[in-house]
Amino acid sequence: MDLIQEGKVKRVLQDPDSAERVIIEFTDAVTAGDGAKKEEFSGKGNVATEMSHYLFGYLEGKGIDTHYVKKLSSNQLLCKKVTIFPVEVVCRNIAAGSFCRRYGTEKGTPFPEPLVEFFLKDDEYHDPLITADAIIRLGLAKRDELEFMKSVTLSTNYYLGEILKQRELILVDFKLEFGKTKKELIVLADELSPDSMRIWDSNTTSMDKDVFREDKGDLIGAYNKVFEEIKKAKPQDVEQRTESIQVIVEPKSGIKNPPGEVTKKALGRLGFAEVEEVRVGKVFVITLKRPLTTEILNHLAIMNLKLLSNPISETNKVRIE
Ligand code: TMP
Ligand code: ASP
Repeated sequence: MDLIQEGKVKRVLQDPDSAERVIIEFTDAVTAGDGAKKEEFSGKGNVATEMSHYLFGYLEGKGIDTHYVKKLSSNQLLCKKVTIFPVEVVCRNIAAGSFCRRYGTEKGTPFPEPLVEFFLKDDEYHDPLITADAIIRLGLAKRDELEFMKSVTLSTNYYLGEILKQRELILVDFKLEFGKTKKELIVLADELSPDSMRIWDSNTTSMDKDVFREDKGDLIGAYNKVFEEIKKAKPQDVEQRTESIQVIVEPKSGIKNPPGEVTKKALGRLGFAEVEEVRVGKVFVITLKRPLTTEILNHLAIMNLKLLSNPISETNKVRIE
């Protein structure tokens, strides 16, 4: 089998049966500090494979598009071939790790709302925090693609957090990677295991790679315990999370817009002399029953043309909140 890519803890191999699929092989390696610290733990590849298999399946069941196809062996998953965005998407519920180092926040401080951050995937530069604008300027992803990834990350946070909560485990933070398939679908990719998430038990004891990062004991024992607990959770008891998106329809500049003219005159009478032009459009707030997928966005684009806006006189954009 041809090796496509060799990562620090995984290998990506070409599936001999399909050009559009790859085999992801999990090794027993564990690394931290961008590979500065590295060790082998027998059984780690297996538990990462099993957990990724289980959790990708669970998320797919909840409507999240992932690259996962099926488990091939105890350390191999068959996945859709994707081009990975060189961006790591981190979601935090509680301050820990690099967030505390960056801002001096006390570890364990909960956030009122989950925080989504982007990091550049680049070991040489130590995966620096990167703004959405910088990602766009560097041409690494488009704004709507980033908004989409953020939305799927928040859905993933909800669905992972809920099954852990059933077992009294706390999802502190995690890192996701996304890829684009040949058909231009953006899907959740990489892996889902305690290698890329922080999970605490009810005593705030780490059950994840921090056991290795901070030399706190039995890494594989912690991973196996988390997996045992996850398997005891009841996915069917996790309620669907609704999602709101907005379609903003604006009259094109230069097209006569009487409601805008009336509003401008009224503003003038109230003393807002600085108003040059007002155009009145409309906003559709659409609540979805399930997580956003590229397919839903494509549907929306068609709906937009057919129903929500008039392409001759109006422009439209989708805003994902
Ligand atoms: P951080 O606090 O080090 O920024 O990490 C946040 C989360 O992302 C944590 O669960 C670990 C995970 N993560 C990775 O999986 N890979 C990485 O390269 C980094 C930096 C973090
Ligand atoms: N920097 C990452 C971590 O500590 C991964 C790695 O070093 O290999 O989680």
